[in-house]
Amino acid sequence: MTDDAAMLGLAGKNGLVTAAGDGIGRASALAFARAGARVLISDISAEGLDETARLIREAGGEVESMIGDASSEEVAEAMVARVVELWGSLDFAHNNAGIGAANAPFADQDRAAWERMFSVNVFGTMVFMKHELRQMESQGHGAIVNTSSMAGKSGSPGLSPYNASKWAVNGMTQTAAVEYAAKGIRVNAICPGATVTTALRTWKESSPDAYDAVVATIPMRRMAEADEQADAAVWLCSSQASYITGTLLNVEGGDGILGKG
Ligand SMILES: NC(=O)c1ccc[n+]([C@@H]2O[C@H](COP(=O)([O-])OP(=O)(O)OC[C@H]3O[C@@H](n4cnc5c(N)ncnc54)[C@H](O)[C@@H]3O)[C@@H](O)[C@H]2O)c1
Repeated sequence: MTDDAAMLGLAGKNGLVTAAGDGIGRASALAFARAGARVLISDISAEGLDETARLIREAGGEVESMIGDASSEEVAEAMVARVVELWGSLDFAHNNAGIGAANAPFADQDRAAWERMFSVNVFGTMVFMKHELRQMESQGHGAIVNTSSMAGKSGSPGLSPYNASKWAVNGMTQTAAVEYAAKGIRVNAICPGATVTTALRTWKESSPDAYDAVVATIPMRRMAEADEQADAAVWLCSSQASYITGTLLNVEGGDGILGKG
């Protein structure tokens, strides 16, 4: 472990990361493991999970996997119980799963798309938080980080279901933060701006001009790497963030200053 990783105070801690088969979740699971934590990862993709577990083991980390849809309360309950069964406590949790929306004006978005969106992004986050908070309350400590989005802080033309879902994640984060602050539990969120993951790489290949046009509007003139989102999530769960709760942390290269979601 590097000195920087040791300073996070996560060595020997136990937790979970959802949607860890790719993107920000994979990077987060790896970052927690590099900080010396044991991590239970889940995803709907067995292939993605296997690859994340392989990368963690290759880095010398300890990992267990569970296939499961993060919108399911059964999966949430089972993951929390499994971490406790394996390692004795749930010290941190990164509720990262979230899906995107088809780009269309509000009046053209159908209810089924809203329901699917809310089932993963809102109810999925809610059921994980519920079971994590119960466990953490019984232990008297814990740190939760949700993956929200800059889309949860302003309007997002064309993406109304996604936008509303991330406002909901931010609301749940801040309400739980206050409710559990005196119980030794911290609840925060990262609010990523555009981050280079599989979908964005594909988009860059198919529409390089549109991709470059977005990049040109970002003050740092680049999109985030998944590792940069992961580092923020891990830090919020670390002992270095011990007096931070209810924070919706922009990780967006300066976009927030421009009021962009
Ligand atoms: N990438 C970005 O630009 C960006 C920006 C802002 C916020 N976010 C948020 O970050 C989070 C992760 O996004 P990403 O871009 O890394 O994701 P991604 O599209 O790269 O997918 C990551 C993983 O999620 C899994 N997954 C999808 N639906 C699932 C479900 N219902 N249950 C369990 N696993 C599921 C996929 O199999 C995949 O392995 C999401 O909450 C997303 O809204 C991403």
